Amino acid sequence: MVKVSVLGAAGGIGQPLSLLLKANPLVTELALFDIVNTPGVAADLSHINTPATVKGYVGNEQLEAALTGSHIIVIPAGVPRKPGMTRDDLFNINAGIVKNLATGAAKWAPKAFICVISNPVNSTVPIVAEVLKQHGVFDPKRLFGVTTLDIVRASTFVAEAKGGKAPNTIVPVLGGHSGVTIVPVLSATGHTFSQEELDALTKRIQYGGDEVVKAKDGAGSATLSMAFAGARFANSLLEASVTKKTGITECTYVKSDVVPGVEYFATVVEFGVNGVHKVHPLPTLSAHEQKLLDAAIPELKNNIAKGIEFVNKA
Ligand code: NAI
Repeated sequence: MVKVSVLGAAGGIGQPLSLLLKANPLVTELALFDIVNTPGVAADLSHINTPATVKGYVGNEQLEAALTGSHIIVIPAGVPRKPGMTRDDLFNINAGIVKNLATGAAKWAPKAFICVISNPVNSTVPIVAEVLKQHGVFDPKRLFGVTTLDIVRASTFVAEAKGGKAPNTIVPVLGGHSGVTIVPVLSATGHTFSQEELDALTKRIQYGGDEVVKAKDGAGSATLSMAFAGARFANSLLEASVTKKTGITECTYVKSDVVPGVEYFATVVEFGVNGVHKVHPLPTLSAHEQKLLDAAIPELKNNIAKGIEFVNKA
């Protein structure tokens, strides 16, 4: 039995993500939790003839039932950006939402893999970790910040600029998931780039989310591409933990000692039956990428400290 719980399942990301998870034959039970509308989303998805049974849960009093027995918890709950906002501007609202959901996970599904989509990911992952620590159930192998959309975007943008098929264009993206903390390793693609191309592509990968926020013009941020990325991430975890396939890797934001003094960091991670099997060391960086990493570190440290402080000040 493989239960996947989506927290924030009625939202812009939550609905298409739930659809893609319903289409995944490895999932046998889909629990859709939100503060509104999940009975309708669940009824709709439940008519699809794939193995997963689907149930909707609404409101905090149903969080326990949504989480109990969960193998993977995916969290896209919270408010998205509007034009002119940074991901950090979301902190005040989303930190509390994520803290509450993490408390539920600590109590009712302490062994589940937790995949955090809610922004600012650089801070919400440390928030979840601190809550799990307070309950004595933190396992760093089981907590992930989902940065897959940065990887998906990077391969699309590089293939567009340099030719080749996007799915075969692999671009590791290190660091975190906002602005300057996003460090694309374009040197790993095998392409050669002029300095102008490097600057333009790096900026586009770092601020790709802004293109969507601007185009949606007040109606939110990336939802469909994020659902694709989130479903890919969950599937990689399922393949490693359920079908026990080896050698599966994703870039993801996890507790790490890859960069001394930076407690959480996105890099290539190999999955195993228990979640993180191996955090890969930093790849060889070009001088351009080393500069990007140097610029990312102070911001990342601040974002992490803010998340940790949010939980521990209370
Ligand atoms: P949305 O507003 O469409 O959906 C959010 C959902 O969360 C709503 O259905 C809302 O009812 C629900 N929600 C609010 N409070 C809740 C609570 N206490 N418990 C459970 N559910 C609750 O927003 P959207 O576009 O789906 O984005 C969700 C989050 O994902 C945002 O924080 C956004 O910034 C983030 N995001 C992350 C990305 C990433 O790459 N990691 C990419 C794009 C968005």
